[in-house]
Amino acid sequence: MKCKVCREPAVLEIRRHHAVFCAAHFFEHMTRQVERTIHDFDMLQPTDRLLLGVSGGKDSLALWDILTDLGYTVDGVYLELGIGGEAGYSSESLKLAAQYAKNRDLNLKVVDLAEAYGYTIPEAAAETRRVACSVCGLSKRYILNKEALDGGYDVLVMGHNLDDEAATLMANTLNWNVEYIGRQQPVLPATKEGLVRKVKPLLRIAERETAAYCVLKGIDYEVDECPMVGGNTGIRIKEWLNILESQRPGAKQQFLFGFLDRVSDQFATAQQEQVELEECSNCGQPTTAGECAFCRLQVRMSSRG
Ligand code: FES
Ligand code: ZN
Ligand code: ZN
Repeated sequence: MKCKVCREPAVLEIRRHHAVFCAAHFFEHMTRQVERTIHDFDMLQPTDRLLLGVSGGKDSLALWDILTDLGYTVDGVYLELGIGGEAGYSSESLKLAAQYAKNRDLNLKVVDLAEAYGYTIPEAAAETRRVACSVCGLSKRYILNKEALDGGYDVLVMGHNLDDEAATLMANTLNWNVEYIGRQQPVLPATKEGLVRKVKPLLRIAERETAAYCVLKGIDYEVDECPMVGGNTGIRIKEWLNILESQRPGAKQQFLFGFLDRVSDQFATAQQEQVELEECSNCGQPTTAGECAFCRLQVRMSSRG
């Protein structure tokens, strides 16, 4: 296999683009894809101060690398979830995130869920008897937004990739969860006071591409899957989509971008009509009614016996 640009030996094939690349042209391809996504969805201004949710995994570290190379000012925030105990999943991920930040001289803020909010994700999952990913997602959404707001950032950047977004869309479509489909946008504007604009520049990039990017760039990342994914249907849907993609390269991209380009506006309108946001009676963050889900979770966790 030869690189389609320079004809040197290739290191990676991207079937949905009918392309094979050497390392240098693969990096260039990744950068162009991110740039194009930022441009097409009008995600960022060159002077924006960005805060990136960093997990220590391949997606957030690859994105941090690409955005920094593109000249953006990007700080990272790592949320220590308390998964896996000492030397377990969370502390290992933090080590890798901190190491990357140090190597590139970037700022990483660490928020320890237990210290700042009094609970860990395993504790919250056990107490509420909910799937860990659901209390985890709720906590991350709230805290990352708060960090961006308190830090005076213009935009909160998330590392969701093509596989993540296609799987989420598929899950919500299988249930016809219209409200969630309406919220699945590459850019979530700051529609209410208290919300920070949120963007997802990795939309065109598949999971195996961020992994290849990190490996080829020598960026160490957390390879292990979160040990608490049990019960997460998104993982199974990703597997189904991978089967589809292997038989029809480009299926995921077609599914996601067909939705974004042709129909997402209609769902967004339906969602706006349905949801009127008010202020949480406790923290003031926008919520559908009364006290927000995060405050309710916190109250429940602090009233444990
Ligand atoms: Fe959130 Fe695993 S990272 S439950
Ligand atoms: Zn090349
Ligand atoms: Zn609240």
